[in-house]
Order: sequence, then C-alpha cells, then structure tokens
Amino acid sequence: MKPQFTNVGIVGTGAMGRGIAQIAAQAGSQVQLFDTQADASSAAQKSIFSQWDRLGEKGRLDSTQITENKARLNCAHTLQDLAGCDLVIEAIVERLDVKAKLFAELEDIVAPLAVLATNTSSLSVTAIAAKLKHPGRFAGYHFFNPVPLMKVVEVIAGLKTDASACTRLADYAKQMGHTPVAAQDTPGFIVNHAGRGYGTEALRIVSEGVADFATIDRILKDQIGFKLGPFELMDLTALDVSHPVMESVYHQYYEEPRYRPSVITAQRLAGGMLGRKTGEGFYRYVDGAAQITPEPPVPEVADMPPVWVSPRAARRAELLILLKNLGAKIETGASPSPTALTLVAPLGFDITTVAVVERLDPARTVGIDMLVDDAASKRRVLATNPATRPDMRAAAHSLMARDGKAVSVIRDSGGFVSQRVVSTIVNIASDICQQGICSPADLETAVTLGLGYPLGPLAMGNLYGPTNVLEVLFNMQTVYGDPRYRPSPWLRRRGAIGLSLLHVEE
Ligand code: NAI
Repeated sequence: MKPQFTNVGIVGTGAMGRGIAQIAAQAGSQVQLFDTQADASSAAQKSIFSQWDRLGEKGRLDSTQITENKARLNCAHTLQDLAGCDLVIEAIVERLDVKAKLFAELEDIVAPLAVLATNTSSLSVTAIAAKLKHPGRFAGYHFFNPVPLMKVVEVIAGLKTDASACTRLADYAKQMGHTPVAAQDTPGFIVNHAGRGYGTEALRIVSEGVADFATIDRILKDQIGFKLGPFELMDLTALDVSHPVMESVYHQYYEEPRYRPSVITAQRLAGGMLGRKTGEGFYRYVDGAAQITPEPPVPEVADMPPVWVSPRAARRAELLILLKNLGAKIETGASPSPTALTLVAPLGFDITTVAVVERLDPARTVGIDMLVDDAASKRRVLATNPATRPDMRAAAHSLMARDGKAVSVIRDSGGFVSQRVVSTIVNIASDICQQGICSPADLETAVTLGLGYPLGPLAMGNLYGPTNVLEVLFNMQTVYGDPRYRPSPWLRRRGAIGLSLLHVEE
C-alpha cells in the first residue's frame, strides 16, 4: 500500500524522533533524520538499524524487509535537505520559542501542501502555530514512549488546523500500525489529562496519613486491576517527568482543583528521589528490584465477636453472604448487641461520620469498602476510625482474612482508597467529555492504550456504577469541603438517571 506521506522528515532524533522514524520507514515512507547536535542523526540511524536487526533475529522481519527499511532511512545534513518532504514531524526540545522558530523556518523550506506536525506533549499546538503563514496544515501528532510499542497517537487540531491535515495524519498513523485518536488542543490533550486522577489522588491519600505508598499500590492493583500501583508508576516514569506534567496541566487550567499536584512529589523531586533511575523513589531499588516492606501479619483472634451490619451498607446482601461464608456469627437485631463488631460500608463517607449519623458505638465500628464486587477483587479493604478499639480492628482483620484473601486496614478517610481513586478518574474523564476534548470512544482507546489501565475510565465508571461513583463524589465533597470532588455536570446528569457513561447522545 502506498503510504499517505511519501517523504517524511524527522527533526530531533532523541528517544521520540527515533521511534517515529522507525515506524514511518516501516510503513514504506522515505525518512530523513535531522538534528542540530553533531552526529545525533547518524547515531539515531544506527540505533534504528540495530533495532531492525534484532527484530530480524526474533523472526518479526525478514531480510528483504530489513534491507528495504534500511534503504528508506537516511540522514539530512541541513534543514534545507527536508525540502522534498510532504510531512515533517518535530520531536525537539520542549520549548515554545524553539519549536515556533523551527516551524517558521520549515514552512519556507517545504512545499505549500506539505503537512507539519509537532510531537509536543505539553505545549499548545495553537500557540506553536500562531505565527505561521499557513497554520491550516499544522497539527499536533503526540506519540508515546517507546513509540514502536505504544500503539496510540493523539492527532491534535489547533484552532486553525484544517480537518484534512488531521485526517491524513490519522490515516498515516494506521499505516504505521498505530491507533489515532482525535483531540482538541487543550492542556494535556487526552492521555496526560485523563491520567491526572490516578497519581494525584493517591498522593492526597498518602498526605492525609490514610495509608502508605505500598498499601495504596497493593489495593489499587488487587481491587481495580491496575498493572502498576500509582507509586510504582511514578517511580518508573520518574518524578522529573511526572511532577512537571502535573504542574503544567494544573496551571494551564488556571489552578483547577481537580488537577492540584502534591507537595510530596515537589519535595522528592527537589531531593533527587526521582524513582527507579536514581535507585530511590517511593521504593528503594537494589539491583533493579523494588524493596517492599512485607504486609502486616493477620492477627490471631481467639474469641471472634458476633458481627452486626449496618442496614445502610453498600452491597449489603453480598456483604452478609460473604460474612456467612467466612463463618461469622451474624446478628440480625435492629441495633448491635453490646459485644458486636459493627460493620459499615459507606460510599464516600468516612467511618467516623457514619458512626455518628447512625448512632453506632465508634469504638466497635469498622468500615469495609464494598464498591468492588468481592468475588472480582483479590483484596478486602477495611478502615478504622480514631476511636476503634484494637480488639475490634483485629477481629475484623482476622475475620476478613479467614479464606486466605489479602486484607488491608487503613485509617479513616472519606471514600477508602479505591473509591477515591476510581471516582476521581471517572470524574476527570467525564469532564473531558463535557469539554468536548474528544469522543467518549477515543477517550477509552487513548487511556487503555496510552496509560495501560485495565478499562477505559468510562467503562470503569459503568462497572462500578455511575450512581455509586456520583454518591462517592457527593459525599466526599461533604467530608472534605473540597471542590476537587465536585462532580462534573456530564457525570451528574448520567449518574442521576442511571445511564451508561458510554451512551452517545443522539
Ligand atoms: P530528547 O532530548 O531525547 O531528544 C531531543 C533531540 O532534539 C535531541 O537529539 C536534540 O539534539 C534535538 N534538538 C533540540 N533542539 C533542536 C532543534 N532546534 N533542531 C533540531 N534538533 C534539535 O527528547 P525526547 O524525549 O525525544 O522528546 C522530544 C519531544 O517529544 C519533546 O517535545 C517532548 O515533549 C516530546 N515527547 C516526549 C515524550 C517522552 O516520553 N520522552 C513523550 C511524548 C512527547
């Protein structure tokens, strides 16, 4: 198949430029590499060649393909050498002035119909194009690292971008084996915007002393199915990359509280505890392996008290079956007997508030997170309140671990860990839909491919129930009085009428 663009120029041959050049040549385009740093483009060419040789050894490319690919990948000596390109993709330093200057030069070099694209991850496409004579042919083309493996690309329309330029870039993405998603030019585009919920909410939970890093990572992996916990992920991407993204999206949205970064990462960044690459981040690394403190042991409880479950518990019927299966002595009275362990299962509210509102003895009250179906979860999460007696805490922990399932006991917070993080992710995604930044379908694709979440954020909201998510947010807003938990009107409307979040309006 003839590629959408025959001659492609890549300016900036670092990590991103190399990856883009590789897949462009594999798609059948003639590719020219240009970099201002001496020998950078030849080093990039060499590295891509050895990449292809490795793919050959693994049997993914045959020798003819390798020879043809190599013949298509060449170095340019000056920017002027890109004159014959019908597409130039820029992956240079992330500075608005430098990128704007480059494109001003390029537009006088290439033919009038050539398309110009930037791989910026944080700058405004519209701002880069502001001084161009022909901004209609200029778009964002945001790939992810490592490009050959991360199969999604955001095609970003600036205010003056012609739709035809985006269509051609999207078609070309498919020819390169990638999935294009269409985004409006807004801070963080889709992926870096949708990704704000996971780390920032987890950091907020830590900052409140509710649970430590490792516990939060365990809970989100075991209950929700994330491949990496938020702190493992931050250690992998490194704080010198992720903290500036958090700050940039927050400030570009004029200090919108939903995206508020954390002093925890600011301080760790300043202290050089960046993550894996510096040997210490949230975890310490020895020979590449994270040093993880073992979980606290399950307490031995000789005399298990009877259990009483609040009539207002979420998933109450399932909770009662679970308790029965665990061999608990279940009380059925209207209120707990004087010795009963009292279980509550709120959505969004903290255990303290529930004990006060339901007139329960806080010393015997323990909360359990029932947002997630117990059968679908590898971990149960309990929360104490400041008055919970140690014997009641131990009894609840021991009872819930009877069948061997992992149990975490955290401190009181509105919304446990999974409720808080899931609701924040769904709320931010809903706001992306509300702003019309992309279609709900592209949002789901971008997040699953770009962030590796087990589900798209809207499908995640559907799984746990839009009404439940809404309830968590409403109640957390009450507990914290913090506008960051204000539900997006897009979510509120759907939650209120119990509509699927993937429902597309006529
Ligand atoms: P890098 O630092 O590995 O490579 C940048 C290359 O551009 C260097 O070889 C440098 O010599 C060259 N360069 C700098 N100014 C230049 C100019 N005026 N003309 C020609 N070449 C110039 O950077 P990386 O990581 O490849 O990122 C490049 C761009 O891609 C940035 O805009 C970044 O925001 C964006 N990006 C980076 C991602 C990542 O994970 N690293 C992900 C998505 C986008």
